[in-house]
Amino acid sequence: MNVKILDLTRQYEIIQEKVERAVLEQMKSGMYIGGTAVTDFEKKFAEYIGVKYAISLNSGTDALVIALKALGIGQGDEVITTPFTFFATAEAIAMVGATPVFVDVEEDTYNIDATKIEEKITDKAKAILPVHIFGQPANMFEIKGIAKKHNLYVIEDACQAVGSAIGNDKIGSLGDAACFSFFPTKNLGGFGDGGMITTNNDDVAVICRAFREHGGAQNGAKARSILEGIEDALETNKTGDALYNPYKYYNYLIAYNSRLDALQARVLDIKLDYLDAFNNKRTEIAKFYNESFKDVEAIHTPEVREGVVPVWHQYAFRCTDKDAMGEFLASKGIGSAAFYPVPLHLQKAFDYLGYKEGKLPVAEKITKQTVCLPIFPELTQEELEYIVSGVKEFYSK
Ligand SMILES: Cc1ncc(COP(=O)(O)O)c(C=O)c1O
Repeated sequence: MNVKILDLTRQYEIIQEKVERAVLEQMKSGMYIGGTAVTDFEKKFAEYIGVKYAISLNSGTDALVIALKALGIGQGDEVITTPFTFFATAEAIAMVGATPVFVDVEEDTYNIDATKIEEKITDKAKAILPVHIFGQPANMFEIKGIAKKHNLYVIEDACQAVGSAIGNDKIGSLGDAACFSFFPTKNLGGFGDGGMITTNNDDVAVICRAFREHGGAQNGAKARSILEGIEDALETNKTGDALYNPYKYYNYLIAYNSRLDALQARVLDIKLDYLDAFNNKRTEIAKFYNESFKDVEAIHTPEVREGVVPVWHQYAFRCTDKDAMGEFLASKGIGSAAFYPVPLHLQKAFDYLGYKEGKLPVAEKITKQTVCLPIFPELTQEELEYIVSGVKEFYSK
């Protein structure tokens, strides 16, 4: 039997009819950038997360960069984050000119260790950027408390965590801003790149909208007045539809072109209707794995913090023979992945920060131990049993 780490063609079969109809309709409409496809999806996503605003963009990376900029973070500022994440988290911090300050992680949830944050706060610190890694919410209660005490912003990297929650609060509604990715492999993945910022802050929403579109037109003018205190007559202009906005080519800020395509918005709008069901299926699979491995001494299954609802973007367990395990599974036709092999503080690109091996021991240890198993919703029971038997066979050798 062959089981891939992820097979998106199976999900395509489920959504095919609706998506093909919507995409064709959109292509025939002649409306490829902006329009109701995008605004409808933004509205639906904001309602799903439970926030006032959702601003779509062309990637999760851009969402991080633009959220940081919207909160005024840049040169000379420090942003506290985790080293156990995808590179883009800290890359975005560096991209706006700020310095990532890495704090070690918890061994069992792989999330930033909130008890170690305060010792890293200097007077340059401007924000905490927790990542809800593998779809499991970070300790937002503690993080928000620390942020409040030290007057810091909280920007959630929710790129892997769409649909997860703490109690009744969805991830993406808890910080000053949150960033999502619609990269195809994500729990809510498009047919290409895409991203979203969510926020309840009126000013942040306006600035993000301005930044995604060259700092132009009414949003640009409003953003400039918020950021620089320069009022402009355009603020009172009420021309309505941006496409026919006579002020479209008036620009107020140096910004980006980072819009979500209308075609992607149509696809994501349809897929959002399936998200909870797909996430529930992932949860069932994670439970099955946890249950199956509970007696395997060499395996540490991931732990879920009390009161949180994870969405299992990845199922990552820890073991001491990670590489041999991956090779053995591959020999059995079972796909696995090693997220993440290098903690960010030891990435070559961050050499300039001067971190050395041994500085963040938990993150360093878990990067040597994590093995991710297939966890996409369309896996069959037969495949799951085959995967479990492969893992167990490795230890019975
Ligand atoms: C934790 C995390 N942050 C940021 C990103 C960047 O998102 P994107 O690939 O959409 O730019 C990703 C996904 O790739 C991610 O997993």
